[in-house]
Amino acid sequence: MVRIQLVVDGQQVADDVEPRMLLVHYLREVVGRTGTVVGCDTSNCGACTVHLDGRSVKSCNVLAVQADGSEVTTIEGLADGDELHPVQAAFHECHALQCGYCTPGMIMQTVDLLRDNPDPTEEEVRVGLEGNLCRCTGYHNIVRAVLTAAESTQATGGTR
Ligand code: FES
Ligand code: FES
Repeated sequence: MVRIQLVVDGQQVADDVEPRMLLVHYLREVVGRTGTVVGCDTSNCGACTVHLDGRSVKSCNVLAVQADGSEVTTIEGLADGDELHPVQAAFHECHALQCGYCTPGMIMQTVDLLRDNPDPTEEEVRVGLEGNLCRCTGYHNIVRAVLTAAESTQATGGTR
Protein backbone atom coordinates (compact mmCIF):
# COMPACT_ATOMS: atom_id res chain seq x y z
CA MET A 1 0.00 0.00 0.00
CA VAL A 2 1.07 3.55 -0.70
CA ARG A 3 -0.06 6.64 1.19
CA ILE A 4 -1.48 9.35 -1.06
CA GLN A 5 -2.72 12.79 -0.21
CA LEU A 6 -4.68 15.00 -2.55
CA VAL A 7 -7.51 17.48 -2.80
CA VAL A 8 -10.77 16.20 -4.32
CA ASP A 9 -13.46 18.79 -5.05
CA GLY A 10 -11.88 21.15 -2.57
CA GLN A 11 -11.64 18.57 0.20
CA GLN A 12 -8.29 17.26 1.49
CA VAL A 13 -8.13 13.44 1.44
CA ALA A 14 -5.43 10.95 2.42
CA ASP A 15 -5.58 7.18 1.96
CA ASP A 16 -3.49 4.06 1.65
CA VAL A 17 -3.99 2.57 -1.83
CA GLU A 18 -2.69 -0.30 -3.91
CA PRO A 19 -0.11 1.06 -6.38
CA ARG A 20 -2.17 -0.46 -9.22
CA MET A 21 -5.43 1.24 -8.25
CA LEU A 22 -6.84 3.46 -10.99
CA LEU A 23 -7.78 7.03 -10.15
CA VAL A 24 -11.38 6.43 -11.25
CA HIS A 25 -11.71 3.51 -8.84
CA TYR A 26 -10.13 5.54 -6.06
CA LEU A 27 -12.56 8.41 -6.66
CA ARG A 28 -15.61 6.14 -6.79
CA GLU A 29 -14.83 3.46 -4.25
CA VAL A 30 -12.68 5.25 -1.69
CA VAL A 31 -13.69 8.91 -1.89
CA GLY A 32 -17.30 8.19 -2.87
CA ARG A 33 -17.42 10.40 -5.97
CA THR A 34 -19.71 8.09 -7.92
CA GLY A 35 -20.69 10.87 -10.33
CA THR A 36 -17.54 9.93 -12.21
CA VAL A 37 -18.37 6.77 -14.13
CA VAL A 38 -16.66 3.96 -16.02
CA GLY A 39 -18.02 3.38 -19.52
CA CYS A 40 -15.40 1.13 -21.09
CA ASP A 41 -12.23 -0.78 -20.34
CA THR A 42 -10.31 0.50 -23.34
CA SER A 43 -9.72 4.21 -22.48
CA ASN A 44 -12.01 5.17 -25.33
CA CYS A 45 -15.26 6.55 -23.98
CA GLY A 46 -14.25 9.52 -21.82
CA ALA A 47 -17.07 8.93 -19.32
CA CYS A 48 -14.48 8.96 -16.53
CA THR A 49 -13.06 12.40 -17.39
CA VAL A 50 -12.05 14.58 -14.42
CA HIS A 51 -9.67 17.51 -14.01
CA LEU A 52 -6.23 16.79 -12.62
CA ASP A 53 -4.56 20.06 -11.63
CA GLY A 54 -6.97 21.86 -13.92
CA ARG A 55 -6.58 19.73 -17.05
CA SER A 56 -8.99 17.06 -18.21
CA VAL A 57 -7.78 13.46 -17.99
CA LYS A 58 -9.43 10.12 -18.41
CA SER A 59 -9.26 8.93 -14.83
CA CYS A 60 -9.26 5.28 -15.92
CA ASN A 61 -5.95 6.06 -17.56
CA VAL A 62 -4.26 7.49 -14.46
CA LEU A 63 -3.13 5.62 -11.36
CA ALA A 64 -4.32 6.96 -8.03
CA VAL A 65 -0.69 7.24 -6.92
CA GLN A 66 -0.01 9.55 -9.87
CA ALA A 67 -2.53 11.98 -8.42
CA ASP A 68 -0.63 12.21 -5.13
CA GLY A 69 -0.14 15.87 -4.22
CA SER A 70 -2.58 17.04 -6.90
CA GLU A 71 -5.94 18.67 -7.06
CA VAL A 72 -8.76 16.71 -8.64
CA THR A 73 -12.11 18.14 -9.65
CA THR A 74 -14.97 15.81 -10.51
CA ILE A 75 -18.42 16.59 -11.87
CA GLU A 76 -19.54 16.78 -8.25
CA GLY A 77 -17.22 19.69 -7.55
CA LEU A 78 -18.24 21.82 -10.51
CA ALA A 79 -21.40 23.52 -9.29
CA ASP A 80 -21.20 26.40 -6.84
CA GLY A 81 -23.61 25.17 -4.16
CA ASP A 82 -27.04 25.10 -5.80
CA GLU A 83 -25.84 27.15 -8.75
CA LEU A 84 -24.94 25.03 -11.76
CA HIS A 85 -21.72 25.67 -13.61
CA PRO A 86 -22.52 27.46 -16.92
CA VAL A 87 -21.63 24.29 -18.85
CA GLN A 88 -23.97 22.21 -16.71
CA ALA A 89 -26.70 24.82 -17.19
CA ALA A 90 -26.19 24.78 -20.98
CA PHE A 91 -26.41 20.96 -21.13
CA HIS A 92 -29.65 21.18 -19.17
CA GLU A 93 -31.06 23.99 -21.31
CA CYS A 94 -30.15 22.33 -24.62
CA HIS A 95 -31.33 18.83 -23.65
CA ALA A 96 -27.81 17.57 -24.35
CA LEU A 97 -28.33 14.17 -22.78
CA GLN A 98 -30.57 11.16 -22.86
CA CYS A 99 -29.37 8.35 -20.55
CA GLY A 100 -26.82 10.76 -19.05
CA TYR A 101 -24.04 8.23 -18.73
CA CYS A 102 -21.56 10.17 -20.85
CA THR A 103 -22.62 13.53 -19.40
CA PRO A 104 -20.16 13.91 -16.48
CA GLY A 105 -17.22 13.28 -18.79
CA MET A 106 -18.66 15.44 -21.57
CA ILE A 107 -19.11 18.34 -19.19
CA MET A 108 -15.63 18.05 -17.66
CA GLN A 109 -14.08 17.87 -21.12
CA THR A 110 -16.15 20.85 -22.26
CA VAL A 111 -15.00 23.00 -19.35
CA ASP A 112 -11.38 22.28 -20.27
CA LEU A 113 -12.05 22.87 -23.95
CA LEU A 114 -13.65 26.27 -23.30
CA ARG A 115 -10.79 27.29 -21.04
CA ASP A 116 -8.39 26.77 -23.95
CA ASN A 117 -10.75 28.10 -26.60
CA PRO A 118 -13.54 30.27 -25.21
CA ASP A 119 -15.07 30.91 -28.64
CA PRO A 120 -14.87 27.62 -30.57
CA THR A 121 -16.40 26.90 -33.96
CA GLU A 122 -18.74 23.94 -34.28
CA GLU A 123 -15.91 21.99 -35.91
CA GLU A 124 -13.55 22.81 -33.02
CA VAL A 125 -16.16 21.60 -30.55
CA ARG A 126 -16.54 18.31 -32.40
CA VAL A 127 -12.75 17.84 -32.51
CA GLY A 128 -12.39 18.87 -28.85
CA LEU A 129 -14.93 16.26 -27.77
CA GLU A 130 -13.76 13.46 -30.04
CA GLY A 131 -12.40 11.52 -27.05
CA ASN A 132 -15.84 11.44 -25.43
CA LEU A 133 -18.40 9.03 -26.81
CA CYS A 134 -22.17 9.25 -26.57
CA ARG A 135 -24.34 6.43 -27.78
CA CYS A 136 -27.68 8.19 -27.34
CA THR A 137 -27.82 11.74 -28.60
CA GLY A 138 -26.15 11.82 -32.01
CA TYR A 139 -24.04 14.68 -30.53
CA HIS A 140 -26.13 17.47 -32.09
CA ASN A 141 -27.51 18.84 -28.82
CA ILE A 142 -24.19 18.32 -27.07
CA VAL A 143 -22.47 20.54 -29.63
CA ARG A 144 -25.29 23.07 -29.30
CA ALA A 145 -24.84 23.05 -25.52
CA VAL A 146 -21.11 23.69 -25.78
CA LEU A 147 -21.68 26.62 -28.15
CA THR A 148 -24.39 27.96 -25.82
CA ALA A 149 -22.06 27.64 -22.83
CA ALA A 150 -19.36 29.48 -24.77
CA GLU A 151 -21.78 32.32 -25.50
CA SER A 152 -23.00 32.55 -21.92
CA THR A 153 -19.54 32.45 -20.38
CA GLN A 154 -18.33 35.14 -22.75
CA ALA A 155 -21.32 37.25 -21.76
CA THR A 156 -20.55 36.76 -18.07
CA GLY A 157 -16.76 37.01 -18.24
CA GLY A 158 -15.43 33.43 -18.34
CA THR A 159 -15.75 29.97 -16.82
CA ARG A 160 -14.76 29.12 -13.29
S1 FES B 1 -13.98 4.61 -18.63
FE1 FES B 1 -12.29 5.88 -18.99
S2 FES B 1 -12.27 6.17 -21.12
FE2 FES B 1 -13.96 4.79 -20.81
S1 FES C 1 -26.61 10.48 -23.17
FE1 FES C 1 -26.49 8.29 -23.15
S2 FES C 1 -24.40 7.94 -23.66
FE2 FES C 1 -24.62 10.06 -23.93
